[in-house]
Amino acid sequence: MEVEIEKLDHYGRGITRVADKICFVENALPNEVVEIEIIKEHKKYIEAKTTKIIKPSEDRITPPCPYYEKCGGCNLEHISFLKENEFKEEKVKEIIEKFAKTNKNIVKDIVYDEPYHYRNKVTLHQINNKLGFYEKKTNNIIPIKECLLLNKELNKYLKNIKSKNNEIILKIGNKTNEILDSTKNKKNIISYIGSKKYRLSEKSFFQVNSVITEKLYNNIKDEIIKNNSKNVLDLYCGTGTIGIYISDNVDKVLGIESCKEAIEDANYNKKLNNCNNITFKLGKVEDLTKDLTKDYDTVIVDPPRNGLDKKVTNKLLEILPKTIIYVSCDPITLARDLSILKEKFNIKYIRPYNMFPRTYHVENICILNKKLMSKDDK
Ligand SMILES: C[S@@+](CC[C@H](N)C(=O)[O-])C[C@H]1O[C@@H](n2cnc3c(N)ncnc32)[C@H](O)[C@@H]1O
Repeated sequence: MEVEIEKLDHYGRGITRVADKICFVENALPNEVVEIEIIKEHKKYIEAKTTKIIKPSEDRITPPCPYYEKCGGCNLEHISFLKENEFKEEKVKEIIEKFAKTNKNIVKDIVYDEPYHYRNKVTLHQINNKLGFYEKKTNNIIPIKECLLLNKELNKYLKNIKSKNNEIILKIGNKTNEILDSTKNKKNIISYIGSKKYRLSEKSFFQVNSVITEKLYNNIKDEIIKNNSKNVLDLYCGTGTIGIYISDNVDKVLGIESCKEAIEDANYNKKLNNCNNITFKLGKVEDLTKDLTKDYDTVIVDPPRNGLDKKVTNKLLEILPKTIIYVSCDPITLARDLSILKEKFNIKYIRPYNMFPRTYHVENICILNKKLMSKDDK
């Protein structure tokens, strides 16, 4: 069946209509005419794949990765990097307008860097001596020699892996090039973001793209300075990265995080960077913020993909900090939370960061300022 593609959906698939149903087509770009094969017909929509490109888009490029068609890791290798960045910016605008019901002009230009070799972490799977990544939508392994998203030193390292473990996690320290291999006894490494150094271990979260992370953290620091922040809450703090990054510019930081290993790293990192104004607490943000008072003028939140717990949004509406800095890896949950927070906060701007090039994922920072309601509030 021959179809014309209208636009991309949020996962980078082409959108068209087939027999009055919306149809999502893998490997198809806007304005292309393609031949498709239906994979699955659902009640309200159809999933299809491209079998032949009849009229290609000017933005189409040949994917450089030999595993691209089968591997589930990347989604946008067939589109130019320039168009990928435009797509992500547009996607954030659409989502913000639709779900946060806010003017899309608050979304600024996307920040990007190199499209390949940015990842400082990889999870490999091994079944029957085949080491690699899972094939799209299956548990079959695609054996790989290298991954184009991965740091070049990690690519060299994975060629010599001898372990037969089912899962192997590798991480590399930014600037130090120290390698953490989950199958060995070396269990943590040091990584740099800007001039700050951080210990991280296997289970603790660390942003996968160190170059973009430094740009993002500088954005946070600029806001902290501009807003004259003094008493800061760093929620979902991981290994304490953001709090430590801004510690020289504020009076006090309290970090909260539920992963035990991450808090152990955070306490180590505090000493490593000679920070005497930071405290970390282990526990769930929704539990530990229950009795929080209005002491904090700035709250940084960096939750996982499911966004903020309802209790946390309610708490923010109650304690009303002057500034909220919301770091998000999922624009849909960000938009959902903003639709609640905007009752008492103005959204100053949202800036997308291309933290995960060649995939449909996009990181965002959003700055919110408390609305001035009455004389007392000022
Ligand atoms: C996106 S990461 C951000 C980490 C850190 N801010 C950074 O930039 O490296 C989210 C963190 O939230 C933690 N987390 C997830 N659910 C949580 C919860 N309910 N309470 C506290 N921390 C949580 C995870 O362990 C993870 O470290």
